[in-house]
Amino acid sequence: MEGDLCAVELRKTKDDSLTLKHPTLGVHYHSVHGAWSETQHVFGQEGLRPLAEAWSEGDAPIRVLEVGMGTGLNVLCALSIASATGASVEMDSLEPHPLAWDEVESLGYDALTGVEREVWQQIHEQGGLEFDSFSFRRVEKELLHADLPERHYDVVFFDAFAPTAEPHMWSVGVMDVMRHCLKPGGWLVTYCAQGDARRAMLSAGFAVERRPGPPGKREMLKAVRSHYPQGKINVRVYMVVIREGMPGPEVLVSYERLPKLGGVMKFPGGGLEWGEGPAACLRREALEELGQPVAIDRLCHISEQAYVSSFDDTHQVMAVHYAARLLDEPRFDDDGVLEDVFGKRVPLMHQALGWRPVEGLEPSEFFFGSDREAWAAWLAQMAQ
Ligand SMILES: C[S@@+](CC[C@H](N)C(=O)[O-])C[C@H]1O[C@@H](n2cnc3c(N)ncnc32)[C@H](O)[C@@H]1O
Repeated sequence: MEGDLCAVELRKTKDDSLTLKHPTLGVHYHSVHGAWSETQHVFGQEGLRPLAEAWSEGDAPIRVLEVGMGTGLNVLCALSIASATGASVEMDSLEPHPLAWDEVESLGYDALTGVEREVWQQIHEQGGLEFDSFSFRRVEKELLHADLPERHYDVVFFDAFAPTAEPHMWSVGVMDVMRHCLKPGGWLVTYCAQGDARRAMLSAGFAVERRPGPPGKREMLKAVRSHYPQGKINVRVYMVVIREGMPGPEVLVSYERLPKLGGVMKFPGGGLEWGEGPAACLRREALEELGQPVAIDRLCHISEQAYVSSFDDTHQVMAVHYAARLLDEPRFDDDGVLEDVFGKRVPLMHQALGWRPVEGLEPSEFFFGSDREAWAAWLAQMAQ
């Protein structure tokens, strides 16, 4: 792929640092808004620096994995941070298509970063370096063939070409591998803030934060492999109840006032109790929240993403959504007022039930991510 000297094009970026244009993909190795600014912000400031500043003598070396060594600018950035903080850093950098020294030397990254030219040259020509507290190894393999060790790295610099050029690099499968090789509590940083990439990280089980981006980009992503030694899985079970309304079908929703969160719209349902299966849980929740029994028709959806509970961030929610049917006329009216078993009408304390037309009800209108995911899945099932 690389290696054709004539085809590699130099370009000056907005902070005056240089980058290269890939000859066949037509994309640049760095942001054209500032190559060095991007590297320092995304991989330095948000990636390695917090760990390097917290490092003290006697600690294990900080292990960094880079995906896509390219010109070596991120390696020089990591080396500078190790030198400035005294932290011990071991860096592996994947690069299936190494650039030749004569393709990169005119980028002038030695002067830019303050790292000696011979050191930068050695990184390229020998693919390895031991320099004070910094050690580096280039791995000339592509990510899915690199046999990355399990729970090994503290931080991943994810610097593949953009999803528009190489979409396969941002897939769930790749993110699964990234999470697998990170230690619990470790993180992956990337310049990319694109929605599909973010969803792939979420699906792989990362907790994903949108962070302020480098110059010219509003956001970047930091994906953390969560680590809660005391963490608990909280199973919640919800009902999707549809009725024929006018002019079309309607779905039952619950408006609730919740501690700390205020008013939210959600599906009726609640938490699984010890000894219950999910179906029994749903039927109990129907008696409690709707004041009447339901029949379960089918399983609609089980959450694919890991949701941190809005009430306790050491709890992870897994939601099960069933399609269910009221066995009787509703015991609540259009104001969400529930009729109790003696025929008296009593307002629910913190909850109002209501019917929403299915047509035009967007997943984003639900407060909880697990409800949004389930409603999107339900709409997709209905569209088939
Ligand atoms: C955006 S550039 C990286 C820039 C680089 N970090 C730097 O500082 O110059 C993307 C790099 O990913 C490499 N790459 C492409 N496919 C890859 C794969 N499957 N695994 C690892 N790296 C890959 C490319 O050859 C390219 O060098």
